[in-house]
Amino acid sequence: MKERVFSGIQPTGTPHLGNYLGAIAQWEKLQKTHDCHFCLVDLHAITMPWEAETLRENILQSAACLLACGIEPGKLYVQSSLHAHARLGWLFNCVVRLGWLNRMTQFKDKAGKNREKHSAGLYTYPSLMAADILTFKATRIPVGDDQRQHIELANDIAQKFNHDLGKEYKEKTGRDFFPTIEALIPAQAARVMSLRDGTKKMSKSDPSDQSRILLTDSADLIATKIKKAKTDPHPIPETVAELTERPEAKNLLSLYTVLDKDGSLEKTLNAFSGKGFGDFKSALADLMVEKLAPISNKTNELLSDKEELRKTLKLGAEEARKVAEPIVSEAEALAGLGF
Ligand code: AMP
Ligand code: TRP
Repeated sequence: MKERVFSGIQPTGTPHLGNYLGAIAQWEKLQKTHDCHFCLVDLHAITMPWEAETLRENILQSAACLLACGIEPGKLYVQSSLHAHARLGWLFNCVVRLGWLNRMTQFKDKAGKNREKHSAGLYTYPSLMAADILTFKATRIPVGDDQRQHIELANDIAQKFNHDLGKEYKEKTGRDFFPTIEALIPAQAARVMSLRDGTKKMSKSDPSDQSRILLTDSADLIATKIKKAKTDPHPIPETVAELTERPEAKNLLSLYTVLDKDGSLEKTLNAFSGKGFGDFKSALADLMVEKLAPISNKTNELLSDKEELRKTLKLGAEEARKVAEPIVSEAEALAGLGF
């Protein structure tokens, strides 16, 4: 039996380079060796203010982009098309403790100072995320570094459920109902930073378009964004240790390294040390264009047939439903629900 992998991405705009290097590139590799289900998490997207029409468009745009990155049809679907997520999400809202949710740094970052004005959904976001994963009993979760705390919380929820409601199941089967899950976080580019501020992560919600590279950006746009990317006045150093206090330089050099086949930060520094950022930036832009142009072209091609895209997403949902429905029904039965 192949191990099961689950991951999700919010359809809140076109995926960016951070999404690609932190998550999607890993998804693409894991498909070959694992039983994979990937999800456009629209129920998570509506935890922040949204417009229905934009969400509809973003779902198709994100789907096209993920398929263009090599995600196979049958493995990608839209979260709201499977009721299992909301059903288990509610059950987990009644298992998770307020104290646990209060510790979540993503909520604190997103809500900022004005917590009272945010939706209750934003607060309980992590218990829905736990439900996404556990309704598949998935054990391997490829994500960027920012999701580490949410995965830990999902394990806490699973454990509490197993302890409070899964005793009989364990006596009968010798196993816990929900498995322990593990985040798969890439060694490099687990946290791609904003091009405008090396201390903030690259994000779809940053007000500045210049802060991120979208997977569908044209060659010209990539070159301009990289040229304008913030750096510092010092030349490129010889050693990794000298990058410690230079977040912008470190980010750009790390991006070059992951995009370069067989790259290592030492190798990149060897090639560019002593030079200014001008030459380096044009080499970085060329490498990025080489990698992203095929994704961008394929995305546009797929977007030209929306009916076909919808069919592909339905196929993914059918495959996902076969796995998820029986698990959520059994979880409900253990909880005394489903009369
Ligand atoms: P989101 O766009 O927030 O739904 O994120 C989808 C996936 O991309 C998650 O696995 C995130 O951890 C990952 N991700 C988002 N932003 C970054 C970033 N700046 N660097 C690396 N991974 C990221
Ligand atoms: N919270 C994730 C993010 O913002 C997206 C997500 C939702 C997810 N459900 C998931 C990721 C389940 C992994 C597994 O990036």
